[in-house]
Amino acid sequence: MVAGIHRPTKAVIDCDAIRWNISQEKKRLPEDTLLYAVVKADGYGHGAVQTAKAARQAGANGFCVALLDEALELREAGITEPIFILGIVEAAYADLMAEQQLSVAVSSLEWLQEAEQVLREKTTVYPLIVHFAIDSGMGRIGLKTAEEIQQCEAYVRQSSHLYLEGVFTHFATADEKDDQLFQLQQSRFCQLIKSFVKKPEIVHTANSATALFHQSFSSNIVRFGIALYGLNPSGNQLSTPYSLKPALQLKSRLIFVKQMSEGETVGYGATYRAKEGEWIGTVPIGYADGWTRGLQGQTVLVEGERCEIVGRVCMDQCMIRLPQEKPVGTEVVLIGKSGTDEITMQEIAEKLHTIHYEVACLLSSRIPRTYEHVC
Ligand SMILES: Cc1ncc(COP(=O)(O)O)c(C=O)c1O
Repeated sequence: MVAGIHRPTKAVIDCDAIRWNISQEKKRLPEDTLLYAVVKADGYGHGAVQTAKAARQAGANGFCVALLDEALELREAGITEPIFILGIVEAAYADLMAEQQLSVAVSSLEWLQEAEQVLREKTTVYPLIVHFAIDSGMGRIGLKTAEEIQQCEAYVRQSSHLYLEGVFTHFATADEKDDQLFQLQQSRFCQLIKSFVKKPEIVHTANSATALFHQSFSSNIVRFGIALYGLNPSGNQLSTPYSLKPALQLKSRLIFVKQMSEGETVGYGATYRAKEGEWIGTVPIGYADGWTRGLQGQTVLVEGERCEIVGRVCMDQCMIRLPQEKPVGTEVVLIGKSGTDEITMQEIAEKLHTIHYEVACLLSSRIPRTYEHVC
């Protein structure tokens, strides 16, 4: 999708905020614990390469992505630090991953066998670095039993094409007040990693929520995702040990302003009927930008004042009720600060009955990302 660089809607990302969030976390971590910045899904909508560069400046030791293509994007941009692919990549690409010195999650013996076959045929210089995924209760990917771990370990150890660097798990409820499942997952994981003949050098379990809310976690790497973007992983259920700075603001400008007569309607379905003399402004953002129809009724900020989105959100535009006439070109803040008020990503998520992760990721590539405080 082409980015709309000739329209006034943009996501403004503050690299200082990213550096702040990372450096606060780095300060709390023991010296031998590494921080890998999770920049999958285009850096949760913030831009993977720019986020990775800012994270690196603040001391990130490596990166996590979900797809092989996301890892390749970082390599092409000159990121030479370790990159760990969290998801399962088809074994057919084992040689490409080895060549690019990427590490990848492994969830089955069959995958290892297929990858070994590929690597043997392609005579790649480097071995493929693997981390065993352990399913301790997330129910997504990973080995579940001691037997599976032992078989996979034995297989990797006899291969010169595979190098077992790490083992990891992922918590399903680290961001919740109730820590029952978290404790259960932790004890299952501790039990399962005893099945290794030789434990891998890197053992990692922590995402943002684990690092922020659980004192007792032990992890050689923190896979730091949502918090690096300045968003509290729990929404607002649990408080963070330091203040996070949200990195993204979503801004636009009034593109059209008109005064309405009593009873005139606004938008598809004519769901809003104006009062006499009301001022309505049109903002060039809509559901094709990830500003979805569920945001009808949400407020946005115009010169520090809250203005309601009235009528249905269209594909490319939405309409807001203004307190009085405003000139075309007046700034509209959809996420971020204006005057003394602020609309947070969490507020938008609550309106949409979802989580801020989804709001950020859904901002489409039609919205240009601009960066402040790049250095
Ligand atoms: C395996 C794994 N580790 C770490 C993360 C980062 O999580 P968060 O963004 O909550 O820090 C994710 C994100 O989904 C993940 O899937």
